Amino acid sequence: MDLIIKNGVVIMARDTYKADIGIKNGKIVSIGKEIEDNEAEVIDAEGKYVLPGAIDAHTHLEMPFGGTISADSYEAGTRAAACGGTTTVFDFALQQKGHGIIQTAKERDELCAPQACIDYAFHVVISDLRPEILDEFQDAVDYGLPSFKVYMVYKKEGLMADDGVLCQVLEKAKETGALISVHAENPDLIDIRTEKYLREGKTSAWYHYMSRPEFVEAEADKRAIHWAKSLNAPLYIVHLANKEGMEEVKKAKDEGYEIYAETCPQYLYFTNEIYKREDGRNFVCSPPMKGKESLDSLWKGIKTGDISTIATDHCPFQTSEKDWGKDDFTKIPNGCMGIENMYPYMLSEANKGRISFNKVVEVCSTNPAKIFGCDDQKGSIVIGKDADIVIYDPKKEFIISKHNMHSDVDYTIWEGVKLKGYPVMTFSRGKLVFKDGEFVGKPGWGKFLKRKIKR
Ligand code: URP
Ligand code: ZN
Ligand code: ZN
Repeated sequence: MDLIIKNGVVIMARDTYKADIGIKNGKIVSIGKEIEDNEAEVIDAEGKYVLPGAIDAHTHLEMPFGGTISADSYEAGTRAAACGGTTTVFDFALQQKGHGIIQTAKERDELCAPQACIDYAFHVVISDLRPEILDEFQDAVDYGLPSFKVYMVYKKEGLMADDGVLCQVLEKAKETGALISVHAENPDLIDIRTEKYLREGKTSAWYHYMSRPEFVEAEADKRAIHWAKSLNAPLYIVHLANKEGMEEVKKAKDEGYEIYAETCPQYLYFTNEIYKREDGRNFVCSPPMKGKESLDSLWKGIKTGDISTIATDHCPFQTSEKDWGKDDFTKIPNGCMGIENMYPYMLSEANKGRISFNKVVEVCSTNPAKIFGCDDQKGSIVIGKDADIVIYDPKKEFIISKHNMHSDVDYTIWEGVKLKGYPVMTFSRGKLVFKDGEFVGKPGWGKFLKRKIKR
């Protein structure tokens, strides 16, 4: 063996037990009591928790968006992820007009592969649906790319899919074993309300929220669910942030439909009150943070299993870029950071007693691996799987600051947030990539993950 992690408490989605873990060639090769091998390096995890690395199924690294490019490169974003206990990211590859699905992923991979510090996969955003693209679905699935996304918004940006497109991709995905994700908000309502506020001179960040409040998101959630139910196609709703939508997801799941909802840490910690702050524009993302009732309903959804996954929607911009919208909220590039904060924040909430550690592992690692088809390699500590492992010190106190983060962004929305417990080591396929506050991995280490969704 290459490495033995001894005496830790292993936390899985369904189990908690004390065991040693043996690792060879990047894989978990044994789990048990008192594993010995004189050749192996030994790490003593007494008093620590040993967790599967988190899988962040929603990131936008160096993505052209909002008149600029999101501020974390593949290197910076995956470095930061590793330092927060995330060992796999799913990034969005935007289809350019005229380009194919596999071509889109390959183009993105040229940028990503030399930089990635941890393993990664792509969801391809379908923004130019043509018959050839529908015909390519099966090839993409066979290639190991079984998840696509459509935006029900971003009309002016040329990314929006109307209901016709949404229904076609839902049906094709069902036929080919793929899964469609949607960003659900109503674009017409956003436009009408935005124009009204601008006419009235209401230009602060608060009006970003007011232009897309709870019901604007809920309508699109309901519409997407309606189409998925009607076509009996699976559906994954990204960054769910409102109570009415949460209730509709619960209803559909209770009726037996394959509907998944993801939410993000920012919707579990902040409310729309944040947009009343002087620096409110730094928190502008879409959908915006909502009221306390929505926040509470999302936490409830995690407990009941109606939220399947937590991901970050990591899409940060520098302060100077956020400042473009000082006097006009429509000029603020949309997106926030969280790639380094998701697992530590969720685990801290578990440590404070809000939910169980098992639940955090389930929604941050095991479920995304299953839903997006990489659970043969990722998402749990099981013999034969990749040794993507986090050692977590439940006693460590940590206060988030831009100074102790590892991304390239010059601020964090999480500044000053106090956490109980923190990761102290992260292993990516058995290689140490984070230790005691320092990144110790290297760009180019991360591998592209080929996946297959089991139904
Ligand atoms: O504001 C956000 N979320 N920006 C990134 C793009 C998206 O909608 O996910
Ligand atoms: Zn989105
Ligand atoms: Zn996003």
